[in-house]
Amino acid sequence: MTDFPLYAVFGNPIAHSKSPQIHSGFAEQLDDPVRYETRLAPVDDFSGHWRAFLKEGGRGANVTVPFKEQATALADRLSDRARQAGAVNTLVVGEHGEIVGDNTDGAGLLLDLERLGAPLTDARILVLGAGGAVRGVIKPLLATRPSELVMANRTVEKATGLAELFRAHGDIRGCGFEDIEGRFDLVINATSASLSGELPPLPATLFNEGALAYDMMYGAALTVFLEWAHTHGVRCADGLGMLVGQAAEAWYQWRGTRPDTTPILEALRADLR
Ligand code: ATR
Repeated sequence: MTDFPLYAVFGNPIAHSKSPQIHSGFAEQLDDPVRYETRLAPVDDFSGHWRAFLKEGGRGANVTVPFKEQATALADRLSDRARQAGAVNTLVVGEHGEIVGDNTDGAGLLLDLERLGAPLTDARILVLGAGGAVRGVIKPLLATRPSELVMANRTVEKATGLAELFRAHGDIRGCGFEDIEGRFDLVINATSASLSGELPPLPATLFNEGALAYDMMYGAALTVFLEWAHTHGVRCADGLGMLVGQAAEAWYQWRGTRPDTTPILEALRADLR
C-alpha cells in the first residue's frame, strides 16, 4: 500500500484490460507515480463499488463495458463531450469531491489521427457506422474542418438522424452504404462488424490517392476492413492508438500533464504480436 494517488479501470470483465499497463507507462514516463488498479464490479452494482473506491481515496477512473451508462448516471456533472457522446468513459473526482463524467474517446481518436498525419482539414472523411462509438467522435472530426463528413450506416435512419443532430457544427451527411458516392481521403470503420469478421458492403472505388483507412477495432491481425483496404493499396491503422490516446486524455484530466503516447503504443503493439 502506498500513498500514491489512486486510480482504476472499472469493467466486467476487466482482467485483460490494457489500461493498467498504459497508465503505469504514463506514470513512469512523467515521473508521477500513481496507484492504478483494475476493479471488477458486478454488472448490477457499479455504483456501490465506485463509492467504496471513493472511500479508499480514489481520484478518478476509466470506465469500460458495461458501465458507461451507469457512470453517466452517477456523475454530478457531465462534460459537454460526455453529453454529446451519450456515454462516460472517464470519471474525475474534482477538488471539492464532485464527480465529473467525461468522454475522452473523441479526443483520443484525434490524437491518434494527428500522430498518423491523417488527412483531416479540407479532406473528405467517411465514417462507417452510427452507433455509440460514432457519437463521441463526430464533433472533434468536424472541428478539424473537413470538406465533408459522410456517415454511412446499415440502418440508414440512424445515420441521417445523427447527422441532423450535428448539422450546426459542419458539413455532415448521413446515408446507407449503397448511397456512398465519390472517393475519400480518410475512411474510419466504427461499425462492430469487425468483431464478427464481417465487411460492410463498400464500393471498390472508395479511396483517394494518399488515403488512410482507420479501424477503431484492433487485434493481433488486421481487421477484415483493414485487410480489404490493404488489398486496395491503402495505408492502414487500427484502433490501438485510439485506445492509448483516450487514456492519455484521461490522464490529462486527472494529472494535468500530457504523456507521449508513441513509446507506450509501441510496447503494446509488441505485446500483441
Ligand atoms: P458501438 O458502441 O460499438 O458503436 P453500437 O452502438 O451497437 O456499438 O453500434 C454498432 C454499429 O455497428 C452500428 O452502426 C451497427 O449498424 P446498425 O445501426 O445498422 O445496427 C454497425 N454494425 C454492426 N454489425 C454490422 C454489420 N455486420 N455490418 C454493418 N454494420 C454493422
